[in-house]
Amino acid sequence: ELRSRHQLHGDLGDDDEPWTTGVRETGASVTAMILVAAGSGSRLAAGVPKALVEVGGRSLLQHCLDTASTVERITQIVVVVPAAHLREVSAALAGQAVDVAAGGDTRDDSVRAGLALITGAEQILVHDAARPFVPAEVFERVIDALTDSEAVIPAVPVVDTIKRVRDGVVIDTPVRDELVAVQTPQGFRAATLRAAHDGHDPQVTDDAMRVERAGIAVRVVAGSPQGFKITTPFD
Ligand code: CTP
Ligand code: MG
Repeated sequence: ELRSRHQLHGDLGDDDEPWTTGVRETGASVTAMILVAAGSGSRLAAGVPKALVEVGGRSLLQHCLDTASTVERITQIVVVVPAAHLREVSAALAGQAVDVAAGGDTRDDSVRAGLALITGAEQILVHDAARPFVPAEVFERVIDALTDSEAVIPAVPVVDTIKRVRDGVVIDTPVRDELVAVQTPQGFRAATLRAAHDGHDPQVTDDAMRVERAGIAVRVVAGSPQGFKITTPFD
C-alpha cells in the first residue's frame, strides 16, 4: 500500500527502495486519515452539505484530499459523507484512492463510521472537511509528533480574551496565556483512538476530548492561521 501511494507520487526510480526512507527516518508507521464531511452545514446554510460547497472551483472536501495526497505518509483515506449523498459523492470521488462511508448524526458518530473502515493503520488522523486550507506542513507536524506521543492536536493561540458566561453574566475569565484554539488534523495511535471511541457521548466535540477523558496526555503542536474552520457565510 505504501509502495503504491509513493508510485503515484512518482518518486520511485532510485536504486535502493527510496520509498521506505521517509517512513523509517521518523520511526512513523502506517497512517490513515478519516475525513469527516458528513455535516449538514446548517450555519453556512448553502443549500447543500458544507463539504460539497465549492471555493475556487473545488469542493471543501476536494481541497482537503488534494492537500492530503501530498502527504506521503498517509496511506489510507476514509471520507465520511452524509448518508443521503453517499452515492453521489462516491461517484464524484471515483478514481481517487479513498474509501467512502456514510456519516452519523453527530461528528463523533461520523468519526466512528470512518473508524470502522480503517484497516491495519497504526496511526489515525481525524480531519474536518470544513478546514480546507490546512497546509500540508501541519499534517506533517502532527504525524511527526506521533512518534513519541499517543495523541497530538494542532492549535493556535487565542487572540481574544475568553470569558465563561452563564445567563448573560460573566462567571470566569480563564488566563489567556493558557488558552489555544484547536484545529485538525488531530492524530492518534490507532489503538488509543479506538479504545477512546467506545459508546455514544453527545457532549464530545473533538476526538482529543475522548482521549483526555481516558487520562492520556494530548500533545499540542503549532497549527496554522489557514487551519480555520468554515462555519458561516462570512467565513
Ligand atoms: N461532521 C460530520 N458529521 C456530522 C457533523 C459534522 O462528519 N454529523 C463534520 C462536518 O462535515 C465538518 C466537521 O465535522 O467537516 C466539523 O463540523 P461543523 O463545522 O460543525 O460542520 P456542520 O456540522 O456541517 O455545520 P453546522 O454545525 O453549522 O451544521
Ligand atoms: Mg456541526
